[in-house]
Amino acid sequence: MDRYVVFGNPIKHSRSPFIHNMFAQQTQQDMVYEKCLVEGDFLDVVKSFFGEGGKGANVTLPFKEQAFSVANELTERARLAGAVNTLFLKNESLIGDNTDGVGLVYDLIRQFGPLEKWRVLMLGAGGAARGCIAPLFSAGISHLHIANRTEEKAKSLISSFSANASCQNISASGFGNIPNQDYQIIINSTSASVSGDVPTIDDSLFDKLIFAYDMFYSAESTAFIEKVTKENPSVKVSDGMGMLVGQAAESFYLWRGVRPEIEPVIEALKKKG
Ligand code: ATR
Repeated sequence: MDRYVVFGNPIKHSRSPFIHNMFAQQTQQDMVYEKCLVEGDFLDVVKSFFGEGGKGANVTLPFKEQAFSVANELTERARLAGAVNTLFLKNESLIGDNTDGVGLVYDLIRQFGPLEKWRVLMLGAGGAARGCIAPLFSAGISHLHIANRTEEKAKSLISSFSANASCQNISASGFGNIPNQDYQIIINSTSASVSGDVPTIDDSLFDKLIFAYDMFYSAESTAFIEKVTKENPSVKVSDGMGMLVGQAAESFYLWRGVRPEIEPVIEALKKKG
């Protein structure tokens, strides 16, 4: 039976096996997907998995950058993301791809409609933000402003996209000097929600907002979503559960050539808690 895996550390709470096994059932694929705690050398673990006939792997924290180095070939979106979350063999060559950004885009379109001409405010300038820049522009947004607690990091992030013709309409600042430009959506990519914190930005930025998205997800509402709803109850909000399932669906498609339905899986995950 075809074998797939998710590598990470920690990995105990990963929902990827649940998601992929549901996709497999739904599309009648004969495959198994398991989690693998990587404690030794990541390269050795990857080599032995594929050497023993493994078909494909997802990679989660803290190995996405190492997976980037391990891959023999990178897709354009993985190169731009600077990280790999999906590995598979093609003609004996290990391909590294990154499906996180398209996972976000699928979920935004699914919930909020087409992104054409949107002005987007992204909070955070770490790996999660980087991976979404090119996919957001590919989806047709008109402007992206990246604001980060450490302003320099936001500036350095956008400078690494300066050579990319399709990602030109981009700006950066700290949290305290975000230009108020009637953003349609605010996306929180910071890890602040993990500890229940909310990025400190001017409350007036919520006034004309239509949508808000927190890449983090949890059984309860996130601190960021609570804050947005308090400041402007008319904003449509979402946590990042759909992004998680969306990136998994894209990996599944790369491996199996079939697109699973993501809604039933999101529903099942929500019920599971
Ligand atoms: P990654 O592994 O995704 O690259 P990272 O580089 O640690 O992770 O980035 C996490 C992001 O969350 C950064 O934008 C970080 O801001 P700084 O660059 O200023 O550190 C942001 N972040 C983490 N905790 C935060 C908090 N409590 N408030 C605001 N931003 C926070």
